[in-house]
Amino acid sequence: ATTLGAAAAQSGRYFGTAIAASRLGDSTYSSIAAREFNMITAENEMKPDATEPQRGQFNFNAGDQIYNWATQRGLKVRGHTLAWHAQQPSWWGGLSGSGLRQAMIDHINGVMAHYKGKLAAWDVVNEAFNEDGSRRQSNLQATGNDWIEAAFRAARAADPSVKLCYNDYNIENWSYGKTQGVYRMIQDFKSRGVPIDCVGLQTHFTGGSSLPSNFQTTLSSFAALGVDVALTEVDVTNSSTSQYAGLTQACLNVPRCIGITVWGVRDSDSWRSNESPLLFDGGGNKKAAYTSVLNALNAA
Ligand code: G3I
Repeated sequence: ATTLGAAAAQSGRYFGTAIAASRLGDSTYSSIAAREFNMITAENEMKPDATEPQRGQFNFNAGDQIYNWATQRGLKVRGHTLAWHAQQPSWWGGLSGSGLRQAMIDHINGVMAHYKGKLAAWDVVNEAFNEDGSRRQSNLQATGNDWIEAAFRAARAADPSVKLCYNDYNIENWSYGKTQGVYRMIQDFKSRGVPIDCVGLQTHFTGGSSLPSNFQTTLSSFAALGVDVALTEVDVTNSSTSQYAGLTQACLNVPRCIGITVWGVRDSDSWRSNESPLLFDGGGNKKAAYTSVLNALNAA
């Protein structure tokens, strides 16, 4: 196959990108995105600060712009994200305890009702762990250690048809504390029947260093708990071709690794645009890393 999406589809997977609504008018950007990818994540437009700027007053204009652009082109959409310590609506800052907990639940209900039955997955909770595997201190964590499962239970009730994911970074190395902390939470959720369907490994890598040799072990270990895994925000500084090929191969080697999403289209679109981390250069040209990924997908 000659595009990333079609090549990934040969093994039943998807290949996606993050999209910024403000860039959709750029025809180079939107034509690459529509041609190469078949799964779309809103980079910022479905986050809590964007979707509920005032309490109970939801705004889906930018999120819907991305959703409509994608689905009109036959592309699927992942939801990102419902509960996170960052990019919260400013009015959450005035709440704590049971009031904040209720605001989080109401937010999940409001956003998920709007997109009910329309999305492939939701990142229900994002980045809730510290590097050592303990829970990240945040206003949400301060509402009680059960805030994550409360979010997942509310999400399942709000839309029983969508896959519910926990999403985090620095959980790619199996011997890392944070990976183990997230693993234990998923194991606990599965043993107690807390609804969870998938783990998103963001996969923000630093080029030059080698791929964690146990990356595939991490993917297969999560999968063995009975969840799908996906690489949800991939970028590699300096677009190291060996790391891009390696992370693609690790996913291909694990049956429950269902897809890969890169966190932007061109280097110039990236949140780390000065580190040339993506598959297309600023002019929209395919980079060597692109070819290494496409070849790995086509060899599967
Ligand atoms: O939209 C405003 C604009 O009105 C304002 O003039 C401008 C001034 O700074 O800011 C604009 O908002 C920025 C927004 O991106 C849209 O461009 C924010 O400042 C900026 O903080 C925000 O950055 C986003 C970041 O999440 C915030 O946490 C990045 O685009 C986005 O790529 C990044 O994505 C995260 C994932 O959600 C979670 N995992 C890590 C990943 C990378 O940090």
